[in-house]
Amino acid sequence: MPEASKVLDRVLVLEMVRVTEAAAIAASQLVGRGDEKAADHAAVEAMRKAFDTLYMDGTVVIGEGERDEAPMLFIGEKVGGAPGRGPKIDIALDPLEGTTITAKAGPNALAVLAAAEEGGLLNAPDVYMEKLAIGPGYPEDLIDLTKSPTENVQAVAAAKGVKPEDIIVCVLDRPRHAGLIAELRGIGCGVVLIGDGDVAGVIAVTDENTTIDMYMGSGGAPEGVLAAAALRCVGGQIQGRLLFRNDDERARARKWGIEDLDKIYKLRDLAKGDCIFAATGVTDGSLLAGVKRLKGGTMTTESVVMRASSGTVRWIKGEHRLHG
Ligand code: FBP
Repeated sequence: MPEASKVLDRVLVLEMVRVTEAAAIAASQLVGRGDEKAADHAAVEAMRKAFDTLYMDGTVVIGEGERDEAPMLFIGEKVGGAPGRGPKIDIALDPLEGTTITAKAGPNALAVLAAAEEGGLLNAPDVYMEKLAIGPGYPEDLIDLTKSPTENVQAVAAAKGVKPEDIIVCVLDRPRHAGLIAELRGIGCGVVLIGDGDVAGVIAVTDENTTIDMYMGSGGAPEGVLAAAALRCVGGQIQGRLLFRNDDERARARKWGIEDLDKIYKLRDLAKGDCIFAATGVTDGSLLAGVKRLKGGTMTTESVVMRASSGTVRWIKGEHRLHG
C-alpha cells in the first residue's frame, strides 16, 4: 500500500462523493430521453458547481476535452473553492461515463472521478487505449499486453486453477473487437459483451459476484486512467497501450508530454501514489444502483468512494430531498 498522502488527507475524501452525486442526479433527469449531449451537459455543469464547495486547489488533468473543445471541466481547468490556498490536487473526471447508455436508459452509467497529488495521474490524451485487466489475488505481472489474448487467458486460467474455457472475459461490443471475440470464443471462453461503459467493465473484474475474470479490448484512454485509480484501491492489475488512428492523435499525445507512443502502461504508470476514486450510479449497474425518484420528490443515490493508501472502500446510500 502507498504511504498516505498528507495532501489528500486535507481533502475530505467523503466530500468527493458529493461531487459525483451531484453529477449523477443531474444526469438522471435525462435518462432515456435520447439526448446524449443534454445528459452530459447536465452532469458536467452539476459536477463543476459541486467542486466549488470543496476546499482544494484542483486541476483537471483528465476531463471533457481540451480547452477549445469543452466549455467546462476542460483539461487544465482549475476546480475547487480554494484556488492558490487549498491543497493541490489533480483530478481525472468523467461526469457522465456512458452518455449513450444514459440516453437509452441502459445499465452501468456512472458519474466518476479520481483524485491524486499533483502528477499522480497519467495525463492521457483522448485517444483509444488497448486494455487488459484482472482482479486482485494473482501473481504480479501475470498478464502481458505483448502476448496474445489466448496466452493471457491461459496464464490466468493456470493461476486460478481452472481451464481456459472456464474463464469469463468482458469486452466492449464493437466491430473492431470481432477478431478478439472470435479468438476468445474459439478457446471456449465466455465473453460478456457490454454496450458501453468500460470503467465499470474493468472494475467488474474485481468483484467475484460478476463472475468476470478478465477485461480485454480497446476503449477510451481517460477511462483507462479512471479504472486504474479504482484498481489501485481495491486491488487488481491493468495494462494499457495508447492506440493512435492518425498523426493528429499522435501530436496530441506528444503535446501532453508522452514521448514513447508504444509504451505499455502498468497500473502505477496510470495512477501512482495515494489516490481516491469515487463514483455514483446514474443507471442501475454491476457496481452501483442508479438514481431513483421516490414519491414525494425524494431521490436516492448509491455511491462508492475508495482510497489507495488505506484500501478502505465505502459504499454510501444517499437520500436527497428536493427543495421547492
Ligand atoms: P462516453 O460516456 O463518452 O460515451 O463513453 C462511453 C464509452 O463506452 C467508454 O466507457 C469507453 O471507454 C468508450 O466509450 C469506448 O469508445 P467507443 O464508443 O468509441 O468504442
